[in-house]
Amino acid sequence: MERQKLIINGGNQLMGEIAVQGAKNSSLPLLSATVLIPQGECILHNCPRLTDVDYAMRILSCIGVKCRREGGTVITDASALTNNEIPQSLMREMRSSIVFLGAMLGRMNSCKLSFPGGCELGPRPIDLHLSALREMGAEITEQHGYLMCNAPKGLHGADISLSFPSVGATENIMLAAVRAKGVTQIHNAAREPEICDLAEFLSSCGAKVLGAGTDIITVEGVEKLYPCEHRVISDRIVAATYLSAVACCKGELILTGVQSAYLGQIIPLLQSMGCKIYSFGKDSIYIRVKGRLKAPATIRTMPYPGFPTDAQALLMTATATAQGTTVFVENIFENRYRHVSELSRMGANIKVEGKVAVVEGVSTLYGGELQATDLRGGAALVLAALSAEGKSAVTRLCYIDRGYENIEGAFRTIGADIKRI
Ligand code: UD1
Repeated sequence: MERQKLIINGGNQLMGEIAVQGAKNSSLPLLSATVLIPQGECILHNCPRLTDVDYAMRILSCIGVKCRREGGTVITDASALTNNEIPQSLMREMRSSIVFLGAMLGRMNSCKLSFPGGCELGPRPIDLHLSALREMGAEITEQHGYLMCNAPKGLHGADISLSFPSVGATENIMLAAVRAKGVTQIHNAAREPEICDLAEFLSSCGAKVLGAGTDIITVEGVEKLYPCEHRVISDRIVAATYLSAVACCKGELILTGVQSAYLGQIIPLLQSMGCKIYSFGKDSIYIRVKGRLKAPATIRTMPYPGFPTDAQALLMTATATAQGTTVFVENIFENRYRHVSELSRMGANIKVEGKVAVVEGVSTLYGGELQATDLRGGAALVLAALSAEGKSAVTRLCYIDRGYENIEGAFRTIGADIKRI
């Protein structure tokens, strides 16, 4: 796996149509939520084929949830759980496996997970997750790198104020609250579309969740939940990747199966750079890009509905060859400029100081040997290579495969010269 590379001959315009995959960041909490359903099969459609989804399915199997894939659909049955422990090997593979904590506590009143630790984006603390669950009655201790979590009398509702609208903490609290005794209220909750998708799934299972998509979410615990069938929302960051690819390479593209409202500030930003973008029909977006783009106003990453941190690297590649100077301010993660040194080796002119990156647009990027540094940073390098003069090889594809279903296949269908060897 580690020896695979993408070989890209840059310079082709992109032309055609792509159906956007289901959202990774929805699929993971939804798979975790199925742990809460005591009987019957949950059916999740539009579940993308990604290594992160495979890890989540392995975690489910490991705790006794029967889990199978039929095409784009994943079917789970949590009737007979056998284990309340997620081993270190699985927790290490995917930092976001912490989202199993709330669901396991909610269903089993106890669980043991290894501490997820840091990741390629820098430290990923879980203090907000833990203090909220403690407020709901969980006793949580750390022993030799493991989190021992117990709620001997079951969880109860609580009034929780998050000091930051953490996506993962909001999801864990919702998952823990749906079967807790009484009412839980989350203040300063995350408002991301993936939170709304989780709330919709839980409601279809019989949970009482109000306010998802606003900064106050109220969950009234219920006795029992029932299985349901649900379609995962589209991946807004994957959609942003293909839009940014056209911004980098020029051309004309239709994206289908995408809820354009979830793209928030990304579409107006690309439009301000000179991209023509229209939403049409129920779920399609058209983009056309001709000529050199111009640098947009300062891009500050913020919690939703602000500009998403996951799209920062993608837009940076698009601004690397735009006319003028673009300033990025990364407010969410400490270590999210690791793609910059690779872009600089391709001829980009980018200076980073702390959380600020200043991009002076250059006229051309040049192909080279590139290493993916993290999921979205890796995708940004693919975009850079697609638009660059000459040939590139991108390695460390394990990062990219965590979030993109057959990225080379999708780009090949729209005219890119890209193959995996
Ligand atoms: C999720 C997304 C990730 C996205 C991020 C921000 C998934 C699987 N991943 O990650 O792609 O980049 O939202 O939109 O959905 N923090 C704390 N203490 C905590 C929790 C978080 O200090 O207990 C800090 C983090 O260090 C970070 C910030 O809050 O600086 C945002 O983190 P959070 O919203 O929790 O991101 P994730 O849920 O991990």
